[in-house]
Amino acid sequence: MSTPKPRITVIGTGYLGATHAAAMAELGFEVLGLDIDPAKIAMLERGELPMYEPGLGELLRRHVAGHEGASGRLRFTTSYAEAGEFGDIHFLCVNTPQKHGEYACDMSYVDRALDSLAPHLTRSALVVGKSTVPVGSADRLAARLAELAPAGDDAELAWNPEFLREGFAVEDTLHPDRIVVGVRSERAETLLRAVYATPVAEGTPFIVTDFPTAELVKTSANSFLATKISFINAMAEVCEAADGDVVKLAEAIGHDDRIGKKFLRAGIGFGGGCLPKDIRAFMARAGELGASEALTFLREVDSINMRRRAQMVELTREAVGGALLGKRVAVLGATFKPDSDDVRDSPALNVAGQLHLQGAQVTVYDPKGMENARALFPTLGYAASAAEAVRGTDVVLHLTEWAEFRELDPAALGETVAQRHILDGRNTLDPQLWRKSGWTFRALGRPTA
Ligand SMILES: NC(=O)c1ccc[n+]([C@@H]2O[C@H](COP(=O)([O-])OP(=O)(O)OC[C@H]3O[C@@H](n4cnc5c(N)ncnc54)[C@H](O)[C@@H]3O)[C@@H](O)[C@H]2O)c1
Repeated sequence: MSTPKPRITVIGTGYLGATHAAAMAELGFEVLGLDIDPAKIAMLERGELPMYEPGLGELLRRHVAGHEGASGRLRFTTSYAEAGEFGDIHFLCVNTPQKHGEYACDMSYVDRALDSLAPHLTRSALVVGKSTVPVGSADRLAARLAELAPAGDDAELAWNPEFLREGFAVEDTLHPDRIVVGVRSERAETLLRAVYATPVAEGTPFIVTDFPTAELVKTSANSFLATKISFINAMAEVCEAADGDVVKLAEAIGHDDRIGKKFLRAGIGFGGGCLPKDIRAFMARAGELGASEALTFLREVDSINMRRRAQMVELTREAVGGALLGKRVAVLGATFKPDSDDVRDSPALNVAGQLHLQGAQVTVYDPKGMENARALFPTLGYAASAAEAVRGTDVVLHLTEWAEFRELDPAALGETVAQRHILDGRNTLDPQLWRKSGWTFRALGRPTA
């Protein structure tokens, strides 16, 4: 007789949790998603996504109970009692933002989630952290769980960091490039092997570690990626000083397979709900551990990244003749990357906001991020399309590399602007194409003509 599949809860149904919940249902598990935001839960129950993520809406509707043709394996709740009663495995997917006014991670959401769940664990259960947390958190939370769970030692903790990329979240969750689990018992490892049996059978490496290593894998991976982006952006600064071309430079060094082409596109840098806060939290935690010297380079990585935003503002000022006051600026892109509606710490919106504060009249257009952008920066102007955003403007800024912006027709747009100036903050537009239609084209780290 085969053992029944473990039942899964997913605590926190944001970008990570909603994807994880739907993916677990797709893998054949009974899943209960929980969030403290009743509006989010109501939407998910209706089969609607509270965010934009390609393919996730379809996946959700394939499984949400009560929908025609759905497997019915996915349900949602706001009740911790129900989650405790239902689940054998509980994935913690709540947010871990930067603390106000300091670099450290705000663990209050994770702490609250664990404190709410633990008293309802009256039988054998595995609580699996997926949020990105400072090293040492799992150890602390395991002690807290032991203290609060009526099941005692039968309620156990594991850490299973998440590596999904927004824009590819469904693919990354169903077919991850690696699975890392920090465990303290064979039972925990066996349960997690059962959860991930399908991707492991497809060849995904399954790496078993202790708690601190599992936590560190995530923060070190993000630090490496941030460093690679800031490296090429530092080269862009040097190219600007020496009249070199960072795009050619990146192409040339990328052919060396020890370096590789990925994450070598110079531009206005990284943002989003992960990289910036994760490298800062990592520095703060290293300081607490007496290892701050090991990570001082991340301060430079962060500074290079933030300088690119400032440089974009300077290029804009130059393009409009030296003073931003009253100048009309179109900003194409608001999200921190394409194929997402996420505007958390978005370089594009940050640049738009700086220009606005310096007196420019800024009009923003983004294919999916308008609602979130408006909520964060209600004082910026917003347009319903790229064509509308650029009409009558003195300069156009390309700040998020959505595919639709590469399809824009420079000749047609040129008829509607006041001045044909375009600044490419992502190095994905074709300079020849724009220059042919009479535009002055400038980009970060590239020669002016
Ligand atoms: N977004 C990504 O691409 C990504 C990738 C890898 C890892 N992560 C990590 O995953 C975690 C979640 O990130 P996210 O982007 O999904 O955040 P998010 O803000 O989109 O989602 C977090 C959700 O948790 C809910 N929540 C907060 N407190 C709760 C509580 N006590 N009980 C139940 N629900 C609660 C919130 O209402 C929200 O819906 C973070 O640690 C992040 O660093 C995110």
